[in-house]
Amino acid sequence: MTDITADIAQAGTFPLGDRTVKRLGYGAMQLAGPGVFGPPKDRAAAVAVLRAAVAAGVDHIDTSDFYGPHVTNQIIREALHPYPDGLVIVTKVGAKRGADASWNPAFSAEELTQAVHDNLRNLGVDALDVVNLRLMFDVHGPAEGPIEAPLTVLADLQRQGLIRRIGLSNATPRQVAEGRRITDIVCVQNQYNLAHRDDDAFIDDLAASGTAYVPFFPLGGFSPLQSDSLSAVAAGLGATPMQVALAWLLRRSPNILLIPGTSSLGHLHENLAAAELRLPDEALAALDRIGVA
Ligand SMILES: NC(=O)c1ccc[n+]([C@@H]2O[C@H](COP(=O)([O-])OP(=O)(O)OC[C@H]3O[C@@H](n4cnc5c(N)ncnc54)[C@H](OP(=O)(O)O)[C@@H]3O)[C@@H](O)[C@H]2O)c1
Repeated sequence: MTDITADIAQAGTFPLGDRTVKRLGYGAMQLAGPGVFGPPKDRAAAVAVLRAAVAAGVDHIDTSDFYGPHVTNQIIREALHPYPDGLVIVTKVGAKRGADASWNPAFSAEELTQAVHDNLRNLGVDALDVVNLRLMFDVHGPAEGPIEAPLTVLADLQRQGLIRRIGLSNATPRQVAEGRRITDIVCVQNQYNLAHRDDDAFIDDLAASGTAYVPFFPLGGFSPLQSDSLSAVAAGLGATPMQVALAWLLRRSPNILLIPGTSSLGHLHENLAAAELRLPDEALAALDRIGVA
């Protein structure tokens, strides 16, 4: 299943704000250097991956100016600007990188405004399609805390025309409800995959309100998914474990939009081919047991 002519439209579409995107997109974080810091070893290869994704029909790319920092957005601009009609680039703000590659909260009005302008400049656009406010009350997972002050800053930048739509990342249901009193929240981007299912109920609630849910680390992120059950299902279907992990997410809920990340053309095509993979009921049952074991 590494067909480079995969028909990603088979994964279907879902609204992302006032746009509709294919459910198989691409996450650009892997295009920066090791530790998402500095330039990649092979910039031409990074450019090639982005162009191949768009050529294959990808119309949803996830990024941030704190990847690199600046590097990933600059590569996206080099590869794809002027951007094709219909391409939605989603970015995020709320963190800044230390000189030691650390990820630090950056929620003051000055820092958020600077981050929006950094994204505009490095992507080469007049307005950002979607900006996620990446919450950092706990860097590793959603944690309660007030979001009114930083979200109000983004809503002001939205009114100025610099941001089209706003989402939340690393957020709780309560924060989404709080956010909706300030502005429209068009998507939630949290960690979720076959083995990490804390958001099961949250995803269903967001689906009911027509809100996109965009799982980060869909393949396990820095620790790629490994499971005997996953490998067995994949072998039985003649697919790879990563394809099965993505097909499971597509099947999990119609509001899930995928942004698997890769720096490799081979992996890109492998991942996009998951759009064509259908999971039989018994495979689904075996996969469902992984996250609750
Ligand atoms: N909101 C947030 O806080 C947050 C946090 C993390 C990520 N994100 C976003 O979510 C996107 C996806 O997350 P992610 O890229 O960190 O993790 P991921 O998609 O779960 O996994 C990426 C890792 O899997 C490898 N990989 C990809 N395809 C593969 C395949 N077919 N076979 C084997 N290995 C494969 C990649 O290595 P290769 O490069 O070698 O393929 C990379 O190491 C990011 O790109 C970023 O845009 C958001």
